[in-house]
Amino acid sequence: MNTEIFFEIHQGLPREGPGNFESTQRAYSSLTDLPEQPLILDLGCGPGMQTFHLLELSNGQIIAVDNHQPFLEQLQEEAVKKGVQNRIQIVNADMSALEFERNSFDLIWAEGSAYSIGFENALRCWKPLLKDKGYLAVTEISWMNSNPPEELKQFWAEEYPQMRDIQSNFTIIERAGYRPVGYFVLPESAWWEDYYTPLEQKLIGLSQKYQDDAEKLPVIELHQLEIDLYRQYSAYYGYVFYLLQV
Ligand SMILES: C[S@@+](CC[C@H](N)C(=O)[O-])C[C@H]1O[C@@H](n2cnc3c(N)ncnc32)[C@H](O)[C@@H]1O
Repeated sequence: MNTEIFFEIHQGLPREGPGNFESTQRAYSSLTDLPEQPLILDLGCGPGMQTFHLLELSNGQIIAVDNHQPFLEQLQEEAVKKGVQNRIQIVNADMSALEFERNSFDLIWAEGSAYSIGFENALRCWKPLLKDKGYLAVTEISWMNSNPPEELKQFWAEEYPQMRDIQSNFTIIERAGYRPVGYFVLPESAWWEDYYTPLEQKLIGLSQKYQDDAEKLPVIELHQLEIDLYRQYSAYYGYVFYLLQV
């Protein structure tokens, strides 16, 4: 994929994947054994909407990690605006090769990012960083119906062939040594409000700007197709919050 247009599409959006305050709050409130001031590692934080929500929900400190510097700059700017920079440390690093000490974190948070390094791989890489009884809260796109329409199946077979159903993800979770604490499917509003709606707005302008560009236009159209498929087939798949403890 042409990465230049990929980042032009994604730059400046409020978030980079499905999620919203209510879902982050619901997930956070299921983690009942957290200390009063948890140390939280927010992986694949992107521009950091969930980072700020977590600051609001906890009394903790957050280390926010991403490997795309412009997202981290967006997060940094917002942290200064909100006056919370003393509670966030921003780190540019590869979340599959983190150099934090073992047993460091009360909670690892990963909204819409684990898939980038493979769900199972992510679970395995991150576990040593958690303290005893520490939590992992992770969202992952998951099938909710075993018989999706052909065009949907084909799209995701191309875009994310490792996408599994909820039961198969729980098999991986248990194999990786976590204890499930709960799970829920994110509401459709969490896809639209801060993600697909602003993204779709942006695609309209970009498809005009690049209407004669044979490399960039297909990338824009692929994003539009993803949105159109969700609009039509949201009953078949969703983002699932998996809440886990070691
Ligand atoms: C779909 S976005 C989700 C961002 C944010 N959590 C949200 O929900 O808005 C995935 C994020 O993971 C980051 N990412 C992908 N691969 C990464 C890696 N190997 N190391 C660190 N960050 C990575 C991307 O830059 C992107 O910001």
